[in-house]
Amino acid sequence: MEIDKTHKLKNVLIIGLGGIGEAIVKVLKSENPQLNIYGLARQNKDIPFLADQFNFNLLEEAKWDNFSQTINHLQFDLIICTVGFLHNEEFKPEKKLDDMNLEHLTYSLQVNTGVHALALKYLQRHIPLNSPALFVSLTAKLGSIADNRMGGWYSYRMSKAALNMLIKNASIELGRKYKKLRLIAIHPGTTDTQLSAPYTDQTNLNVKEPKETALAIIKAIFHSPASEDEIFLNWTGEPLPW
Ligand SMILES: NC(=O)c1ccc[n+]([C@@H]2O[C@H](COP(=O)([O-])OP(=O)(O)OC[C@H]3O[C@@H](n4cnc5c(N)ncnc54)[C@H](OP(=O)(O)O)[C@@H]3O)[C@@H](O)[C@H]2O)c1
Repeated sequence: MEIDKTHKLKNVLIIGLGGIGEAIVKVLKSENPQLNIYGLARQNKDIPFLADQFNFNLLEEAKWDNFSQTINHLQFDLIICTVGFLHNEEFKPEKKLDDMNLEHLTYSLQVNTGVHALALKYLQRHIPLNSPALFVSLTAKLGSIADNRMGGWYSYRMSKAALNMLIKNASIELGRKYKKLRLIAIHPGTTDTQLSAPYTDQTNLNVKEPKETALAIIKAIFHSPASEDEIFLNWTGEPLPW
């Protein structure tokens, strides 16, 4: 599978080096060994092939400001933010309103929406003004309002819907200045990672391995059958309803 030659990728930043993030690094490097792939995560991950890895608390805004200054010299043609939260010891997806609490919702918004917003805010000066560039956020189809037929999972759904709005909004603002920048919010499809692990046997969905998902995402963002102004995409490259 070929990366779109018109993008002439040189520097790539992958934010979040979990199951899908790590697989994206490996797939990109195997497709294009010349690429400089940088990683950013809250904790150090033992991933080969990275030109450099940066680690700080992604929920601390001052750290982003500092990071942006540290990498002053770097311009990225492709940024993929994979950061996302569904469950931990304390918070599980809510089945009903009575399961909701403000801390769970706030934390979901911070991670699933806030980190992506900070990435856009502090990395915009690291995006080339006049050459093709992509900013891609991993979202979820569960964040689609139009597609919601089952309810539940309040905090995750709400924070991914907010992420989708962030990407749409930023595409309007940045589109005025960056003539060849495209922003995409992509649903990776159910993938076997620690995020989905407790829930995959409850679904009839086809569960992909991270490598398969990474390949699909790269194909979708560079060879999407959707038009250039479609923003919310499925892993197949088809547009999804907001
Ligand atoms: N897997 C699926 O079936 C599926 C389906 C739909 C959408 N998605 C989306 O795809 C993206 C990647 O998920 P994944 O499946 O690769 O899950 P994952 O392995 O759990 O990766 C999630 C990433 O988010 C990071 N993260 C979580 N909380 C954070 C925090 N407070 N601060 C900084 N980083 C934080 C994790 O960091 P650590 O590695 O340090 O924990 C990890 O890099 C997510 O946005 C998820 O919502 C996944």
